[in-house]
Amino acid sequence: MLTAYDYTMASIVDQAGTDVILVGDSASNVMCGNITTLPITLDQMIFMAKSVVKGAKRALVVVDMPFGSYQGNSEIALASAIRIMKETAADCIKMEGGEEIIESVKRILSAGIPIMGHLGLMPQSINKYGSYAVRAQEDKEAEKLIRDAHLLEEAGCFALVLEKIPAKLAAKTSSELTIPVIGIGAGNGVDGQVLVLHDMLGLTKGFSPRFLRRYADLGEIMHTAIESYNSDVKTGSFPNENEQY
Ligand code: KIV
Repeated sequence: MLTAYDYTMASIVDQAGTDVILVGDSASNVMCGNITTLPITLDQMIFMAKSVVKGAKRALVVVDMPFGSYQGNSEIALASAIRIMKETAADCIKMEGGEEIIESVKRILSAGIPIMGHLGLMPQSINKYGSYAVRAQEDKEAEKLIRDAHLLEEAGCFALVLEKIPAKLAAKTSSELTIPVIGIGAGNGVDGQVLVLHDMLGLTKGFSPRFLRRYADLGEIMHTAIESYNSDVKTGSFPNENEQY
């Protein structure tokens, strides 16, 4: 699984054989320049998801429910989920949380909308945690995570993301569940992996957690290309005779 937030990137991710495309609320950071995922709105998520769906010819498209669109009120949660499904034609949604959101999870599932759960580090709760450090290192939090994972599976979630938790805990959770578990910073004892596209392509700077493998340095390639273009325009070498009518 990889993230994408627009048509062009989604097409590339899809054609490269990725199974699942996540229209993540990480768009708040990488597309909108916000410090956290909290400010992104349902309208903004829907705008991006519509474009991603057009680019994804074969991958499953999952859309993150943004902060404020589901917490604490299952009626609002259902209305938000229905908007996503109706307006974007995506396949399913993703929600952060366990027991606290289980009423919303059940209500949305009862409307026939598939849900991918998300436990461990939940960036929408950054103000509760106070940092993006590894979660569930203590027994109490680890036990709650396993309980929540079972709750989500029993409610009917079709898959689960585990973010930034000890690899042993992720492997144990995965072995206890029958649904696929997709990890990010959760080791390789799970069923699949997810990364933020802009991070793994080297388009973002200044974010280098241990779990992030950079597969390219597109930021550098783009920088050099744009400098060359600027220089060619200024020196008059672009466009040349073959590049005009
Ligand atoms: O928003 C996102 O990109 C995510 C992934 C990091 C799992 O939730």
